[in-house]
Amino acid sequence: MSSEPFDIGAAGTDVSSASSEEPRYPDHLRLEVERYLEGLHFADEPLTAGLERAMRYSLLAGGKRIRPVLCLATAEAVGMDSHQVMPLAGAIELIHTYSLIHDDLPAMDDDDLRRGQPTCHVAFGEDVAILAGDGLYAEAFKHLLRERRCPPERLIDAAVELADATGAGGMVGGQYVDVANVAPEGPAGLRRLHELKTGRLIGASVMCVLMLGGVDGSARMCFRRFAAELGVLFQIVDDILDVTGTDAALGKPSGSDERHGKRTYVSEFGIDRARELAAESHRMARQTLSEAMATLPGQRTATNLEQITDFIYTRTS
Ligand code: IPE
Ligand code: IPE
Ligand code: MG
Ligand code: MG
Ligand code: MG
Repeated sequence: MSSEPFDIGAAGTDVSSASSEEPRYPDHLRLEVERYLEGLHFADEPLTAGLERAMRYSLLAGGKRIRPVLCLATAEAVGMDSHQVMPLAGAIELIHTYSLIHDDLPAMDDDDLRRGQPTCHVAFGEDVAILAGDGLYAEAFKHLLRERRCPPERLIDAAVELADATGAGGMVGGQYVDVANVAPEGPAGLRRLHELKTGRLIGASVMCVLMLGGVDGSARMCFRRFAAELGVLFQIVDDILDVTGTDAALGKPSGSDERHGKRTYVSEFGIDRARELAAESHRMARQTLSEAMATLPGQRTATNLEQITDFIYTRTS
C-alpha cells in the first residue's frame, strides 16, 4: 500500500478494476479468530445436538470475520493483549451470525445463499433457523460474561454497550427501520438506517474493547467517531456490492436489495454517487482514526486498524 493513506482506489466498489490489486487484510488475526470459533461448543444436552449443528453450520461457514478482527486490531492499537478481548470478539461474531440467519429468513430478505452455502433455514428449516439465531445471541453473552478475562465492572460496561448496540436502539432497531421502510426521506434518513442496522455492531467491535481496556475520556469519544464512520462505510460498500458483485464472489445472492425494493445508497444516489460517498466516508474514517490515535499516550501505531479500514472500502466480497 502507498504511504499516502488516501491514495487507494475503491477496488471493491468496482469489480471490473478489482483484480489487479487485492485489498490487504490482517489474515493472521482472521486465522486466530477462526481457530477460536472452532473451539466453541454451546450445550452438553444430547437432545439439542441438532440445534447446535445448525448454530455451528452458520458460524463456521467462513465469513470475513471483520468484526472480531476489528476487536483484535483495536486491542493492539490501545496496547491490550488479544487474550483479554478474544471472548468479546467471539461473542460479537456469534451475534453477527445470528443477525445473518434472521436477515435471510423468508419473512426478512428471503435469501437462500449465505457465506457460499445454503442459508440456515434452507438447510435446517425455518423453525430451527430462528432458534439457531436465538441461541447464538444468548450464547454470545454467556460466553462474554463467563470468561472473565477483564475486571467485572469493565465487563459489565462492555456487555451493556453490546446489548445496546444490538437492541432496539441499535442493530435490531435498524433492521426494523429497514423492513418497515420508515427511515425519513433524504440522505440523513438513509445514513441513520445504516448507522443502526450495521454501524452499531461494527462500532461495538471497537467501543467494547475500549471499555474492557478502561480507555475513556477524549480517546473514547474520538474512537466513537471513527467506529461510527467505519460502520456506515461498511454498509455503503455492502449496498454497492449488492449491485456490482456476483453470487460467487459475495457468497450471497447479488441483486437482493433491488428485488426487495430496499432503500440503499445505490437506489438513493445511483452507483457513481454512491462510490463517491463511499470514498468520502473512507476518508473520514481514516481521518477520525488518526485523530483517535493521537489521543493515546506514547507513539502508538494502528497498522491493522488502518488495513481493515482500507479493506472495508476496497473489499470485493
Ligand atoms: C454482511 O456482513 C451483513 C451486513 C451487515 C451487511 P459481512 O459482509 O461482514 O458478512 P460475513 O461475515 O463476511 O459473511
Ligand atoms: C443486513 O443488511 C444487516 C444485518 C443486520 C444482518 P443486509 O440485508 O444488506 O445484509 P446482506 O446484504 O444480506 O448481507
Ligand atoms: Mg437485510
Ligand atoms: Mg440481507
Ligand atoms: Mg446487503
